[in-house]
Amino acid sequence: MTTSPFRLDGTVTVVTGASSGIGAEIARAVGEAGGDVLLVGRSAGRLTASLDAVAATGARAAVAAVELRDDAAPQAVVDAALAEFGRIDGLVNAAGIYRMAALADTTDEVLDEHWEVNVRAPYRLTREVAPHLGDGGSIVFVSSMSGHVGSPNDSAYCASKGAIELVVKALGTELAPRGVRVNAVAPGNVHTSMNAELITPELEAEILATTPAGRIGEVGDIAPAVVYLLSGASRYVVGTSLRVDGGFTAQ
Ligand SMILES: NC(=O)c1ccc[n+]([C@@H]2O[C@H](COP(=O)([O-])OP(=O)(O)OC[C@H]3O[C@@H](n4cnc5c(N)ncnc54)[C@H](OP(=O)(O)O)[C@@H]3O)[C@@H](O)[C@H]2O)c1
Repeated sequence: MTTSPFRLDGTVTVVTGASSGIGAEIARAVGEAGGDVLLVGRSAGRLTASLDAVAATGARAAVAAVELRDDAAPQAVVDAALAEFGRIDGLVNAAGIYRMAALADTTDEVLDEHWEVNVRAPYRLTREVAPHLGDGGSIVFVSSMSGHVGSPNDSAYCASKGAIELVVKALGTELAPRGVRVNAVAPGNVHTSMNAELITPELEAEILATTPAGRIGEVGDIAPAVVYLLSGASRYVVGTSLRVDGGFTAQ
């Protein structure tokens, strides 16, 4: 019997943002692919709901409720993973925030929050996890089409995701020699709580008109791309950003 290279059996993956949206579905999809998962988020209640979905796949799962901006967060996450599973093979940095603001309304607080949550926190967690990853380890950042193209009222968010795109290239080159791959998935518009209140009927019509696939994405469109980048099927894929945006940035 041959094993599919897309499977994650015998591996342990840390997934941040696992209490909601894209991260929650990534955690479930990792479980479905046979991998064990440490789910990281802030809301203990919502993490428990995500945990149940992973457990339903038959995978082993545990949660760590952590404010990722805290200085002690990376060590706490690594300690939780090692205590529960004894090893770490993959990291998915999916936690993130989005605040729509025009330049004049982009206060220092808005700018700093994007930097702290979308760049500093995943960078620091990656630095803490990387030494524990062996040959075949994989780190996936959830970036955005906003790391590839600009749009009005998004400059702080675009700056943070643009930074992630280059972090992935730089760390991809740095860690590949010892067998650890670093890549990104860059989603387009995806239905989650992040944008539920922002997508008015007018904005939805605009998105549909400018998205070649003709629909807004679902979390289930994104997670398989992340599983691919975690798995051995992508063993020669390094420092890249896989756009999963219905063709938005192909135009
Ligand atoms: N939705 C889209 O259209 C879209 C498009 C492109 C890229 N993305 C990216 O996809 C990723 C996931 O977004 P989503 O749409 O799934 O959003 P979401 O449903 O709002 O989920 C965000 C997740 O990030 C966690 N989080 C936020 N700040 C945190 C902090 N300081 N410490 C710890 N955890 C924190 C949240 O935890 P709690 O809820 O427990 O606080 C939650 O699990 C983000 O990086 C986002 O930029 C989303």
